Amino acid sequence: MAFMKKYLPPILVFFLAYYYYSANEEFRPEMLQGKKVIVTGASKGIGEQMAYHLAKMGAHVVVTARSKETLKKVVSHCLELGAASAHYIAGSMENVTFAEQFVAQAGKLMGGLDMLILNHITNTSMNLFSGDIHLVRRSMEVNFLSYVVLSVAALPMLKQSNGSIVVVSSKADTAIKAVSGILNIDASPKEECALEIIKGGALRQEEVYYDNSVWTDLLLGNPGRKILEFLSLRSYSLDKFINN
Ligand SMILES: NC(=O)c1ccc[n+]([C@@H]2O[C@H](COP(=O)([O-])OP(=O)(O)OC[C@H]3O[C@@H](n4cnc5c(N)ncnc54)[C@H](OP(=O)(O)O)[C@@H]3O)[C@@H](O)[C@H]2O)c1
Ligand SMILES: *[C@@H]1O[C@H](CO)[C@@H](O)[C@H](O)[C@H]1NC(C)=O
Ligand SMILES: *[C@@H]1O[C@H](CO)[C@@H](O)[C@H](O)[C@H]1NC(C)=O
Ligand SMILES: *[C@@H]1O[C@H](CO)[C@@H](O)[C@H](O)[C@H]1NC(C)=O
Repeated sequence: MAFMKKYLPPILVFFLAYYYYSANEEFRPEMLQGKKVIVTGASKGIGEQMAYHLAKMGAHVVVTARSKETLKKVVSHCLELGAASAHYIAGSMENVTFAEQFVAQAGKLMGGLDMLILNHITNTSMNLFSGDIHLVRRSMEVNFLSYVVLSVAALPMLKQSNGSIVVVSSKADTAIKAVSGILNIDASPKEECALEIIKGGALRQEEVYYDNSVWTDLLLGNPGRKILEFLSLRSYSLDKFINN
């Protein structure tokens, strides 16, 4: 009972706050109008579709991936769709120097940055782990380390614009497929998924999932983890942590 008395009120407050903030504002495409946005991994798949949505909303976009030829096509389609401006910078996110310089160049092209959408992922095949540690290193570098490098490089511009960082995990698509036999839900098409990601970014939602089924939110959102996070953060003095 003592436990309930101590923890129930904060838990309730947490959930009320969560629902208040997540349902507070409605998305309007104008939110992206004139915004300066970087999309990585934008030569195909979800990244490409995000670039097109942003273009339709009148944003400035800089897209990147390795394949120059494909990026060129994405940029010209963005311009057709009504992008305020559209550029590409090709290169591999295996290269940390490229990642850093890319953000600086993109910032120069657009005159700032409002949103950094991190979406690229290395093209590993879905095989059982064969013990090849080089492949692990490569995916850590492309799928994780470059995300850190890009974010750090973008932070000064994002602070200035009060901007945001959006991290895409396309594995969500695969994850949904994995549980779809049990839940009988289909993965949303990538066009729709791309739009949901942009909406979530514009509304600064903490997490967004592919489809809007309550079950997906519940299973992937993992309320148990959120409650634990909330409770354990209570033991930290975050002010001191930040000021240090
Ligand atoms: N998108 C879908 O509709 C869909 C559906 C089912 C399954 N999936 C799976 O979900 C995963 C991710 O999907 P997705 O749409 O996000 O990925 P994707 O279509 O494979 O696109 C990945 C993006 O990252 C870029 N990229 C790859 N390696 C890079 C590197 N070293 N440096 C910089 N950019 C790099 C790719 O362009 P470059 O190759 O030009 O660099 C591409 O633009 C994939 O495994 C995919 O097979 C996707
Ligand atoms: C890494 O990127 C930088 C900047 O784009 C470039 O000058 C350099 O040649 C690249 N290195 C490799 C190994 O591709
Ligand atoms: C991924 O891309 C690299 C470089 O383009 C290529 O050498 C490699 O074979 C590709 N791997 C897979 C699993 O498609
Ligand atoms: C930055 O954005 C946050 C979240 O939307 C908002 O609460 C805050 O007031 C903004 N700050 C400035 C300086 O615009």
